Amino acid sequence: MSLDTTVGTREQVRIFVTGSCDGLEQLREALERHGEVELVGSSAGVMESAPTLTGGHLQVVLHGTRSSSLPADEIASIREHTRAPIILLASGEASALLEEALDADVSDVLLLPQMTENVVFAVRKASKTGHRPLASPGRRGRVVTVFSPKGGTGKTVTSTNLASAFAKFEGRKTLLLDLDLQFGDAAIMLGLEPDKTIYDLVVAPGELDSEKLAGYTTRHASGLDILPAPLRPEDAELVTETKLSRLLEVARESYDVIVVDTSPFFHGPMLATLDRTDELLLVCGLDVPTLKNVRLALQTLELLAFPTNRIRLVLNRANTKVGMKRSEVEGALDAKVRFEIPSDRAVPISVNRGTPAVLAESGADYSKAVREMAKGLLPVEAAKAQKRRLFKRG
Ligand SMILES: Nc1ncnc2c1ncn2[C@@H]1O[C@H](COP(=O)(O)OP(=O)(O)OP(=O)(O)O)[C@@H](O)[C@H]1O
Ligand SMILES: [Mg+2]
Repeated sequence: MSLDTTVGTREQVRIFVTGSCDGLEQLREALERHGEVELVGSSAGVMESAPTLTGGHLQVVLHGTRSSSLPADEIASIREHTRAPIILLASGEASALLEEALDADVSDVLLLPQMTENVVFAVRKASKTGHRPLASPGRRGRVVTVFSPKGGTGKTVTSTNLASAFAKFEGRKTLLLDLDLQFGDAAIMLGLEPDKTIYDLVVAPGELDSEKLAGYTTRHASGLDILPAPLRPEDAELVTETKLSRLLEVARESYDVIVVDTSPFFHGPMLATLDRTDELLLVCGLDVPTLKNVRLALQTLELLAFPTNRIRLVLNRANTKVGMKRSEVEGALDAKVRFEIPSDRAVPISVNRGTPAVLAESGADYSKAVREMAKGLLPVEAAKAQKRRLFKRG
């Protein structure tokens, strides 16, 4: 009888060991001798192992990490080669890692040293459960695009605050996508310095799916995930219409809401975004040049056959005394203002601090207006369902 592929009636689980941490080498040797697993390869660095990882029937990846928090980069590198379940192995202080791993694309976390039998059990369990999809079946996130044909009207302030409100106060799984591809500053307004951007995602090899997307986003304290703009303006052109269309499709499967910050142009990626936009927030101000451009934008949207009933006019800095009234704006644009957002000192202060006003100054008039807007953008049925869920939890 051969012990190569079966133990009794059990099939051996094909595993691959990557990364490094204290105790990993001893574990690797023990697993190599163990009858219930077949070590198909190992490598201290994830990237080096690409040829073997790509090979056929790999069932579980055991990845050692020295990081005390979730090693999102390392997970993303593994995901470029395989969709097999990942078990993270760590040693030392790893409480942050354990916490973050709950929502991450990993099947289990084991702190070394461990009895080999425990590890083999976790391996067998992970191989049976298979890959845990991040996407909830039937989820179809709403795409909320924040646009204005004029610079400086408040698109980024609006999108960062709105996304924070969706995540923090409405309990929505929220993605903030920075489509101001050349000069995006959404991450800065959130006080984040992410090392991965939409550029890294679109140039990464392999098919895009929810797991891969998760490896390139950065979590903010509010609970939102951000996919920032490229770090260098010249990298913007690699974010093509096709890549963006796929990205939005995948994001819709993983998130309840996708808030898109934009630049003041109708470029290719923006057109692809419009095709998938459920709510277009058209940001307007109380000044003649902005009004003129918003009017032109409305005409362009009509030419593009963008459905008028998806456009929401947002009057930013609505309370500024500059000799123009809301009714005049509505008259000039032949459209009703849906949301009024006041001018508030809390906004520039929070921008400079890198914390959205809606979080830092929740009592400010500005924050109340943004929270109202977040509520107003949720479809009635979804809001009811959310309330039911919160009620059940309580
Ligand atoms: N409601 C508001 N109250 C006070 N200040 C505001 C308000 N909205 C925007 N601002 C200020 O205006 C500045 C420009 O806003 P923001 O960067 O959001 O504009 P934008 O439309 O994204 O500009 P760009 O086209 O350059 O990306 C912000 O730094 C902020 O301080
Ligand atoms: Mg901006």
